[in-house]
Amino acid sequence: MIDGIRTLDDFNVEGRTILVRCDFNTPIDSKGEFLEDRRLRSHRETLTELSKKKARTVIMAHQGRSGESEFTTTEKHAKRLGEILGIKVEYVDDIFGTYAREKIKAMKNGEIILLENVRFYSEEETERPSDVQATTFIVKKLTPLADIFVNDCFGAAHRSQASIVGFTRTLPSAAGRLMEKEISSLAKVHTSTKKPIVFVLGGAKVNDSIKIMEKALSNNIDTILTGGLLANVLLAAKGYRIGEPSIEVIRGKRFIEQIPAAKELLDRYEDRIILPVDVALNDKGERLEVPVGELPMDYKIEDVGAETTEKYVEILKKAGTIFANGALGVYETPKFAVATEKIIKTIADCKNAFTVIGGGDTVAAARNLNVEDKITHISTGGKASILFLAGSRLAAIDALKSAATKKVM
Ligand code: 3PG
Repeated sequence: MIDGIRTLDDFNVEGRTILVRCDFNTPIDSKGEFLEDRRLRSHRETLTELSKKKARTVIMAHQGRSGESEFTTTEKHAKRLGEILGIKVEYVDDIFGTYAREKIKAMKNGEIILLENVRFYSEEETERPSDVQATTFIVKKLTPLADIFVNDCFGAAHRSQASIVGFTRTLPSAAGRLMEKEISSLAKVHTSTKKPIVFVLGGAKVNDSIKIMEKALSNNIDTILTGGLLANVLLAAKGYRIGEPSIEVIRGKRFIEQIPAAKELLDRYEDRIILPVDVALNDKGERLEVPVGELPMDYKIEDVGAETTEKYVEILKKAGTIFANGALGVYETPKFAVATEKIIKTIADCKNAFTVIGGGDTVAAARNLNVEDKITHISTGGKASILFLAGSRLAAIDALKSAATKKVM
């Protein structure tokens, strides 16, 4: 059990048909090739365990959203997954029709099949409570063939979609190994006894970051190091004139509205929130570093400066637990990715610390620096990990907590 949720330890899976919801959603280029395969690799432990324990594993997964360029079949996912697991993964060109159901019935112990993209079935993308999702066709057609539902889909745990929450009403359900690890690792960044606990928050989702800060600071997180648009909003809240180009960015994203909340946090927890002491401006493509006291200037702030980075590095080296989410600068421009890369490298070098990172650019930095193996846990959740850390409820986790104990139907 984890947090009131059953896990694979609570079930005998041998010879049973297990419906596993995975999150294989992966960036794909214009030719349909994977740009990376981290999400596929992240389910290795769950799927290997099920196969070794001689379960019959039926995977449901999504790729992209309808109408978007990455909305495509799961056929290539099956092939790549087979290579990762070293076990044949059969792609089934159907979700719950006769062909899929016959394939499931014919499975042998230890086999794995991957159904077609569940979002090809349009009822899937509608978000509704689990009792309503239990009445959808995917749930009604697949439940009679399965014994247990396993949710390993942390990346979409905030979605109350049929394949994510519906089966928890009709089948005994468990968290998969990835789901378990996400819940325990993310919870631990708030409760770790390895002190001090340091958060590094950046990126462009200022409203989410402010929520994480509120929760973290009330939970006695020791220090929050700030960068990205979040730092610009905090500097403005502290009374710095950050310059018209940077204010324009904040205004355009409607983050001006976050300034009162940012000010309140600074008033209450000033000694625990660390702001940049210098910033890097974009002067016609060149990096121009200035102390924050010399602002405003007529250029956009696009990174934290070298002095700030050094200050953050020293704080991180003494940390017992670290959580990082969001780039400190404009990560896609190499000249303004400097601070983010230095901070991720430092986190990777903190060998004795418990380290967790999440968010697109932060995780991309770890991959580009080839330090993924040196981080204790890399969350597969973008929005899901942010919501979890901000203390919001996630539909998939709520559904697992109140899951059926017997098959219903
Ligand atoms: C993700 O990539 O964040 C998850 O797979 C969820 O995808 P969605 O935002 O399209 O639901």
